[in-house]
Amino acid sequence: MSDDIKKGLLGIVVDETEISKVMPEINSLTYRGYAAQDLCARCKFEEVAYLILNKELPNKKQLKQFEKEETKERVLSKTLINVLKQMPKKSHPMDVARTVVSVMGLEDKETKDNSSEANLRKAMRIFAKTPVALAAFYRLRKGKKIIPSKKKLTFAENFFHMCFGKVPNKEIVKAFDVSLILYAEHSFNVSTFTARTITSSLSDIHGAITGAIASLKGPLHGGANEEVMHMMKKIKKPENALKWINKALDNKDVIMGFGHRVYKSGDSRVPTMREYFGKVSKIKKDKVFEKIYEIVEKVMIKRKNIHPNVDYPTGPTYHLMGFDTDFFTPIFVISRITGWSAHIMEQHAANKLIRPLASYKGSKHRKVMQLNHR
Ligand SMILES: CC(C)(COP(=O)(O)OP(=O)(O)OC[C@H]1O[C@@H](n2cnc3c(N)ncnc32)[C@H](O)[C@@H]1OP(=O)(O)O)[C@@H](O)C(=O)NCCC(=O)NCCS
Repeated sequence: MSDDIKKGLLGIVVDETEISKVMPEINSLTYRGYAAQDLCARCKFEEVAYLILNKELPNKKQLKQFEKEETKERVLSKTLINVLKQMPKKSHPMDVARTVVSVMGLEDKETKDNSSEANLRKAMRIFAKTPVALAAFYRLRKGKKIIPSKKKLTFAENFFHMCFGKVPNKEIVKAFDVSLILYAEHSFNVSTFTARTITSSLSDIHGAITGAIASLKGPLHGGANEEVMHMMKKIKKPENALKWINKALDNKDVIMGFGHRVYKSGDSRVPTMREYFGKVSKIKKDKVFEKIYEIVEKVMIKRKNIHPNVDYPTGPTYHLMGFDTDFFTPIFVISRITGWSAHIMEQHAANKLIRPLASYKGSKHRKVMQLNHR
């Protein structure tokens, strides 16, 4: 392959963005200039969602208004509830997420309006309703009744309430909130680029987010947090970890939750999420996953010099919180809707059709023979 071809767009800068950047000088992912770990320490997820969507951190009044709008939209139409009830119970929740956003696009009165004002309103509806729909499916597939959302609960608390019928202690909710903050945005990753590509044909936000969800599902992207848990379940006991990881590396397997296209010496989100994974493990009195975590991490760094990405600690953290493994990536979705929406609005505001070229290596020109001569 010619050196001119940048397969996977490796190292190619395709546009400008004001939304996020990994700043080498502070070795951190930043949202609109703020370090993600500072946001985790000082804000709740709703404030960060506001920041990503509205470019500035909210003051008290702005946050109250934002929360009022979000909680008001935590309801589903009868049509959407019926669609959820008819979905095969074995559907992957990521496919459910993709479908519910698509259905919301059928129902939204402003689907065709791509102005930034309409996009912001639509983003809010998708942001507020998607967790409600996912929690409803979480219950329905277990043969349980849907639990309606509660306006007085925070975004994170309400998700626990809708899935489990109760809100866990504050530290668990904080750990979940932190994971949402860390998952909210990450520049031109695969799903965001997918969303921007769809938007670049002047398509709408529901279509772009539907496509982004499909893209996030893959194990090389958001699906990695589920794969991490499958790996940890396979390892089962800390005593098995060393042998398991060495054998996997001898087989040249790709180890999920490790490596990153942008970070080559460690994902800046990991230390924060690792800390909260530790807190949740302590509350749940579980040492097994932390021990496996450490052994696998040590070997990966020693043998391959490849560091964990944020999906490595979120996987076992969500497991200890009680979520089914196939719900880990949908949790990523409910957070990343903020980042995708901001990118979709940014793309609409300064659009250029995204249309790269390919180097052709197929047949030379051929004449078409009639069917009976072939
Ligand atoms: C994220 C990822 C796709 C980045 O890929 P990339 O920038 O294209 O880097 P490459 O896949 O080319 O990796 C470079 C080298 O490191 C190796 N490598 C990268 N990640 C690895 C992993 N998780 N396990 C084992 N080896 C890995 C590759 O095999 C390759 O080795 P080679 O040069 O001998 O062929 C890749 O690290 C990966 O598949 N990770 C696992 C999935 C995951 O956790 N995804 C979530 C990302 S946030």
